[in-house]
Amino acid sequence: MTSRLPGFYRLSLSQRRAALAPLEEVLLEEGGLTTSQADELGENVVGRYALPLSIATNFIVDGEERLVPMATEEPSVVAACSNGARVARVAGGFTTSHEPPVTTCQLLLRLPPSTESDSAQRQRLLRTLNHETLLRSLGALDPQLVAHGGGPRSLELSPHQMPGCVTLLLHVVTQDAMGANSVNTMGEALLEQLKPHYTPVAAILTNAMPQRNTTAAARFPVTALGKGGVSSEKALDRFLQLVELAQRDPMRAVTHNKGILNGISAVALATGNDTRGVEAAAHYHAASQGSYRPLSTWSLQGKHLVGQLSLPLPLGTVGGMTTHHPLSAHLLERFALLNARTLAAVAACAGLANNFSALWALSTEGIQKGHMLLQKKRR
Ligand code: MEV
Repeated sequence: MTSRLPGFYRLSLSQRRAALAPLEEVLLEEGGLTTSQADELGENVVGRYALPLSIATNFIVDGEERLVPMATEEPSVVAACSNGARVARVAGGFTTSHEPPVTTCQLLLRLPPSTESDSAQRQRLLRTLNHETLLRSLGALDPQLVAHGGGPRSLELSPHQMPGCVTLLLHVVTQDAMGANSVNTMGEALLEQLKPHYTPVAAILTNAMPQRNTTAAARFPVTALGKGGVSSEKALDRFLQLVELAQRDPMRAVTHNKGILNGISAVALATGNDTRGVEAAAHYHAASQGSYRPLSTWSLQGKHLVGQLSLPLPLGTVGGMTTHHPLSAHLLERFALLNARTLAAVAACAGLANNFSALWALSTEGIQKGHMLLQKKRR
């Protein structure tokens, strides 16, 4: 099905549902979760909390038409996302690439009293471990993950160490799961195994996700930029100045990145993923070169503005709410977001589309016009 649905926003809610059939109407009516299901999924539950669920249109991702489910409290995000995707599709849409889905556990242990230096003790610990046996025994804790080609891959010393302690990093390929439960279980088991010689402090995954980057890129024709009485040339000039400001000034970079996360977090929420985990990883990545930087780059190449967004996207399509929230599970299936790689690709494209639209609006008619139109709809 094409994702180009001109006038979709003008349809009534029931016409929109019909246009996207098959959709589970009952799930859409009850917010995807009955009160008793909610009671099973949380603690101290007293009810459910609903948000608008929308579908962003116009996406082509790696040559495939894509409709994108988004849940957000901010009215203009979905319109901005669809609009950005509409401009990108003129030049063929988005392309993406991925690193493998690695989630890393940090283990902190105290070193025993010794005449050796801390550093020598840490090196000896790493040398004396039988890595193969250890990784195999940790993999046995999640046989399903191993059967799907994932599991623990390697163990190394962290580049950051505290005096009298050792911090180990356990890297686990989590395939289509975000992986938090599996990785934390393995980390705690490893801590237990090291107990005879070292005093365990704690094991917990790091939200940094330094090996889990997804990259999305797209070309936006410069001729499309003119709007609200502002010429394409003027809009381009302002757009690039805003990008430069984000590169130089963390106060602008964080807002630039918030615009990107408008799209990504909405996809994460609609699909039952951990939005805080996604945002923590994004901000870690933005700050990883010593100062806080924009997550996307923009350049003028011939007659196109070329945008590229690269960030870690710890999203899953199995386990946790992605499986247990009936509406999230339905949306993943209905919109063919069947593996973590595809979901991360689509989320990154939504982020880049929102980033483009925010910079485009700021460079032309300003942000308030679009916002105000949608606020008016509320009255
Ligand atoms: C608002 O939710 C997001 C923006 O502030 C992003 C930006 O300034 O780039 C419009």
